[in-house]
Amino acid sequence: MTIIVTGGAGFIGGNFIHYYLKSHQKDRVICLDKLTYAGNLSTLKPIMNNPNFRFVKADICDRVAVESLFEEEKPDVIINFAAESHVDRSIEDPGIFLQTNIIGTEVLMDACRKYGIQRYHQVSTDEVYGDLPLDRPDLFFTEETPIHTSSPYSSSKAGADLLVLAYHRTYGLPVTISRCSNNYGPYHFPEKLIPLMIANALNDKPLPVYGEGINVRDWLYVEDHCRAIDLIIHKGRVGEVYNVGGHNEMRNIDIVKLICKELNKPESLISYVTDRKGHDMRYAIDPTKIHNELGWLPETKFADGIKKTIKWYLENKEWWEEIISGEYQNYYERMYDGR
Ligand code: NAD
Ligand code: TYD
Repeated sequence: MTIIVTGGAGFIGGNFIHYYLKSHQKDRVICLDKLTYAGNLSTLKPIMNNPNFRFVKADICDRVAVESLFEEEKPDVIINFAAESHVDRSIEDPGIFLQTNIIGTEVLMDACRKYGIQRYHQVSTDEVYGDLPLDRPDLFFTEETPIHTSSPYSSSKAGADLLVLAYHRTYGLPVTISRCSNNYGPYHFPEKLIPLMIANALNDKPLPVYGEGINVRDWLYVEDHCRAIDLIIHKGRVGEVYNVGGHNEMRNIDIVKLICKELNKPESLISYVTDRKGHDMRYAIDPTKIHNELGWLPETKFADGIKKTIKWYLENKEWWEEIISGEYQNYYERMYDGR
């Protein structure tokens, strides 16, 4: 089987490629990635010489490049991880989010229609459901929860999801969608909460917590997400949405304090900064459907996953130090100076 993984030089796509090449040694994986600020070829370095792997630098919005890759490779499955993925950046500049996340999805699916594929899988997010109140711990997102987005990022992901379902109904395209909660683990870009706090703590820099730090996210170790996508593309029902999450809700402030403890750094590094605009309060996934239909359950507990993640950042300093010393620094100054 030949699989095109878009966005494979990013956090989850990169982890997925490593996972997939190990667990399906007869399949061929082609990574199509534009290498935006969030894409990092060094994430794929360990597999660059694997004969079952090929890297292609291209934009998913570039119809000519996408079609010529389909023509050449005749892929069986497309998994679309490519996206602009950071909520704070979407608040600064929504346009590129609509372009990549919606138009890019359209271009990929048009190529699927033209060349024929077995499966198009869209990697989506629980953020399309909006947020839940902190005082209703009994509420969870199911696949039936109405789409109700808060940020330009989540709106662009929701727009793409609706288009994917429309291509299934209108053209019969064999699609599936996964909506996962917040991931953490190796190769996570240090603009997101967990890797940012680890990198700043190691550099004895302030740890910027938005608002009061009481917002809740439902954290999943990235490999558990990769396993869920693997199950969905092979066994999931066409036309269906699957929520992915492991009932692991944590307040931001508790995560930051845990990172301080693990790294033996003082909590006095914590600095409360102006809250994010439209900040979602709580995300929480009900994973009953994927558990009942596909037997999926998370394998890594947060207590173990966060230790593994911190260990990875300690052992792979060159990976994230290179990022922090480059373009990302300009973003950091724009986002946090005087906040
Ligand atoms: P990321 O920002 O780390 O990586 C995105 C990758 O896509 C990068 O390699 C980038 O170069 C590439 N890319 C961006 N625009 C492109 C374009 N126009 N053409 C080709 N490549 C392009 O993102 P991530 O955290 O790995 O997220 C991957 C997917 O999973 C996204 O669709 C995101 O919405 C979804 N998701 C993420 C999380 C999370 O916690 N990170 C949770 C649920 C769902
Ligand atoms: P993030 O990792 O950006 O993921 P998302 O917003 O998609 O859930 O943020 C996770 C939570 O951490 C979110 O509630 C915002 C908060 N946060 C901070 O408090 N400080 C920070 O510097 C960042 C990046 C996030």
